[in-house]
Amino acid sequence: MTDAPGLMSEPESFALLNDYSITVPRHAVVHSAAEAVTAAETIGYPCVAKILSPDITHKSDAGGVQTGIHTPEELRASIATIQKNIHERAPDAAITGFVIEEQAPPGLELYIGGKRDPAFGPVVTFGTGGTLVELEHDITMRVAPVSKEEAAGMVRSIRHYPQLAGYRGTASLDEAALSDAIQQVSALFTNRPEVAELDINPLVLYTDGLCAVDARVLIRPPAAAPALSRPPLPENLFFGSRIALVGASANPKKIGYIVLRNLLTFSGTVYPVNPKGGTIFGKTVYPSLADVPEQPDAVIVTVPNTVVPQVMRDAGVRGIPLAIIITSGFRETDREGALLEQEVEAIAQEYDIRYTGPNCLGLQVPRLSLNATFDPKSPRIGHTAFISQSGAIITTLVDWSLSRDIGFSAVFSVGNQTNIDFVDYIRFAAADAYTRTIVLYIEEIRDGRRFFEEAAKVTPKKPVIAIKAGRSAVGQQAAASHTGSLAGSYEVYEAAFQQAGIIMAHNLSDAFSLAMLLGSEGYPQGNRAVVISIAGGFCVLASDYAEQHGIQMAPLSDALLAEMNAFMLPGWSRQNPIDMVGDAGVHRFALTFDALIRHQEEWDIAFVVSVPTATIDPVHLATEMARFSRHTDKMVVGCMIGGESMTAGVRVLREAGIPNFEELEDAFRAAGAAVRREEELKKHL
Ligand code: ACO
Repeated sequence: MTDAPGLMSEPESFALLNDYSITVPRHAVVHSAAEAVTAAETIGYPCVAKILSPDITHKSDAGGVQTGIHTPEELRASIATIQKNIHERAPDAAITGFVIEEQAPPGLELYIGGKRDPAFGPVVTFGTGGTLVELEHDITMRVAPVSKEEAAGMVRSIRHYPQLAGYRGTASLDEAALSDAIQQVSALFTNRPEVAELDINPLVLYTDGLCAVDARVLIRPPAAAPALSRPPLPENLFFGSRIALVGASANPKKIGYIVLRNLLTFSGTVYPVNPKGGTIFGKTVYPSLADVPEQPDAVIVTVPNTVVPQVMRDAGVRGIPLAIIITSGFRETDREGALLEQEVEAIAQEYDIRYTGPNCLGLQVPRLSLNATFDPKSPRIGHTAFISQSGAIITTLVDWSLSRDIGFSAVFSVGNQTNIDFVDYIRFAAADAYTRTIVLYIEEIRDGRRFFEEAAKVTPKKPVIAIKAGRSAVGQQAAASHTGSLAGSYEVYEAAFQQAGIIMAHNLSDAFSLAMLLGSEGYPQGNRAVVISIAGGFCVLASDYAEQHGIQMAPLSDALLAEMNAFMLPGWSRQNPIDMVGDAGVHRFALTFDALIRHQEEWDIAFVVSVPTATIDPVHLATEMARFSRHTDKMVVGCMIGGESMTAGVRVLREAGIPNFEELEDAFRAAGAAVRREEELKKHL
């Protein structure tokens, strides 16, 4: 029992639901036992009596609810009991009256709710209801507005759906009415910005219709509309050929030194700037931006925070369109820093400068040999754009990627995202011809709604994979909340990402395995797989992993089996996984690939699993796999499993654009995620 400012009374909540065509119990507000009896004559028995008090949130806990009332006598007694209970348990609570309600017949108890998420706006939740709602946690959510198809999809996606569809001879319930109610709640949130949270629990579903038996609606003044989005970034903003570094230093301990050293490999021109002048690494140092002989395309800033506004003004005067502000000490530090950040932003607006950061690691574009960061390692050239909210994750990942031959089209450290934010980077990477996949490391998105809408435009064209940090912290937050928000923000992120077509990865390795797979092979056309191997053990594991990750083992046609019988030894598996047995050489792999090319309508993904053995030269096998991949538009996945002996073969695969997985399960997990995404895409076509 707590004061709940902004909580609508039950009759008010019912009236609101009524406006949105959601059936509520017949009810009346009364002020005495006599009025209650009169009201019950119209409502009918059995009925329910509830306390009406602005001071009582949890009516049942306060003894304020009486159910199963069958006669006027029982109703009078119930009113007296409620009055006594409230007097004892909440003596200070004001009693405004009583609500007499029709007692809804039993049915399937469900839950529909929603909340206004600070990042993503209105989110609608649906699941099993009743008193075990938190315990069951059988819920699904969508960012509003929820379409008719999405509402129907929500209904079908909960674990308890079979109960609804007719289970063990029970009649199927009114799914259409349920989908309508979900859509109506979505519309309510869209049209009524003051509704902050809503819980309908239980919503009782029948074979024909439904009834919102209990409803709680929290009203809060609507938040200010988010800032309007800025224009998209110019096409080549990050790929200029003249870069100035303000804060260049000859002191090897300073960031301005490390960045300059990293810039030595840049294919364009670098202009170090420092009032001391002189030379560093043999390069002329200019006292100010005004002294730089040509107009730079970008300026990297490594001066202390208080100097940044002046540098930005100088950059504006020089007409420099891009700044990369590595300096920290802004909003992330204190109030003074926040004011400084506002000043920097105002100057940027005045001079039309776009900037990354502040408080970022910088930017890397391997194909331009550009490492505009203080990360001592530069990544390889590749086709994945990595956009990260953590500088430390970038340095770790770049180091990790080097030994795995993983490359990047660009690496962006977003820092405080004051000016250029996730949406800008994603749009930029989507338009970049060198980028095939986009990987995001996200801690928090402020304007989630804009992010969600823009990402949804990108994902059908280019795969976007995200790692979202903060599951545990937000989980605690969710546990602490007591109304409406049945799920924490992490779950909202998950729902929004899924709706926008972003594939969520749970760790860096998964994210880049997927990026590698989708970047080189695109989405698979279906989930039917063939596994080709000489290792019986891995064939068994492959079948397990396939089942676990939603991949179907394609049955092999008689025609294909007959062709393979012609060149296989008698002991081969004669089924999928295709176990060619231990002594098979590359030649038999090649003949199998040829047969699979001739029958490529039978499968969508081929996993080629090889282990170290005397009969197989990995380079030779990789060359045959490259030929296989060239002759089919289906997905070919390398699983050359082993150690050092596989390195040369794996390199051949990489050069041929075939992803290789050292762990068999990783291959199936990545392919499974790709298949699910493809299925989602097909649904929305
Ligand atoms: N124009 C040009 N150069 C100038 C100017 C100016 N107006 N004013 C000062 N400088 C020079 C200085 O003289 C100095 O050069 P010197 O070594 O020749 O004397 C150089 O700029 C740097 O200035 P310092 O005062 O020496 O500052 P320092 O190098 O110690 O620190 C830095 C500057 C690195 C920007 C620091 O303030 C900072 O922010 N560090 C943290 C950076 C960071 O962690 N960023 C985010 C990481 S990633 C993430 O995701 C969070």
